[in-house]
Amino acid sequence: MAAFSRELGIDLGTFNTQIAEGNQILIQEPTIVAIVKDEMKLVEYGTTALGMLGRVPDSIEVVRPLRNSVIAEYELTEKLLGILIRRVTGPTIFFRPRIIISVPYGITSVERRAVQEAGLGAGSRDVNWIPQPLAAAIGVDLPINTPTGNMIISAGGGTSQAAVISMSGIVSAETTHTAGLKLDDAICAYVRRKYGLIIAQPTAEALKIRIGAALPSDEEKTMEIQGQDQVSGLPKPASLTTNEIVEALQDPLSDIANTTKRVLEKTPPELISDIIDRGVALCGGTALLKGLDKYLTLTLGIPVYVVDNPVTCTVEGTAKAFDLLDVILRGQQG
Ligand SMILES: Nc1ncnc2c1ncn2[C@@H]1O[C@H](COP(=O)(O)OP(=O)(O)OP(=O)(O)O)[C@@H](O)[C@H]1O
Ligand SMILES: [Mg+2]
Repeated sequence: MAAFSRELGIDLGTFNTQIAEGNQILIQEPTIVAIVKDEMKLVEYGTTALGMLGRVPDSIEVVRPLRNSVIAEYELTEKLLGILIRRVTGPTIFFRPRIIISVPYGITSVERRAVQEAGLGAGSRDVNWIPQPLAAAIGVDLPINTPTGNMIISAGGGTSQAAVISMSGIVSAETTHTAGLKLDDAICAYVRRKYGLIIAQPTAEALKIRIGAALPSDEEKTMEIQGQDQVSGLPKPASLTTNEIVEALQDPLSDIANTTKRVLEKTPPELISDIIDRGVALCGGTALLKGLDKYLTLTLGIPVYVVDNPVTCTVEGTAKAFDLLDVILRGQQG
């Protein structure tokens, strides 16, 4: 029977959930559901639910079931995972898949157990977990099984994690809740302070993605937005520039840099010299922020580069991790 069991790698993220098998990515959906409030009945999920955000009547709620990369709404997470897994396997209950799922570095055992139970409740046969930076490093083919220092920064939507890996294990690492969503919050706060305008997270995110950057730039872009005047409550437009977004993002960006610095401080010098030679791999959706690699290179004094597959490396690593299961499980004892 076991021979027919499929092996799925899952990256359950605050913003996006992906499922891969072997070298193929089978599912990519936003981690979001729409529910009928009173019944907790799930009516839509993924891209369709995301499109409903801020556009639904009182009876319906659009919910992100993860917060800061951990499960905040257990039942909704389990339901969403169940739907996504069945999209891969079909409705059969005979050949339940085995899964490896990535979890943030430093998560509590209670939070981790919730992920494992959600995986089982969603219909899988067994659930193993892997720290997210390790999965990402496998997904970008860093030589992590050698006695050399490999550093990766995974900057997602809910958390940023910096880790040094050697001999397939984490040597030093840290997780901060400063990631994409905190960047959006910082833009909201800036627009409110400077223009007296209230804007919602999707508008802030659009500013970040379309004209935002980590460092000041000569080629300034502008973007028109509609906000709500915080005094009159009426709609009011404003025009924002790249360098304003750069200014808005400085606090959360320095938090990501400081997290990385603390990890470097905890890393043995032999491994540091490897990291200086090879550079630091940067991945996750927030790695796409213009100039973030350059900003971190300047702030840390160590070369930082964006990997070729920043958004998919974690899920690719979880699928590849089936070949390394013994090694990964060895790192989970105690
Ligand atoms: N071009 C871009 N510039 C800046 N940020 C971006 C860009 N594209 C996506 N992002 C941000 O990336 C984040 C999502 O990244 P990702 O999919 O890696 O997160 P996640 O895996 O769901 O979250 P986490 O792993 O933190 O729980 C969002 O905050 C989004 O705004
Ligand atoms: Mg992620």
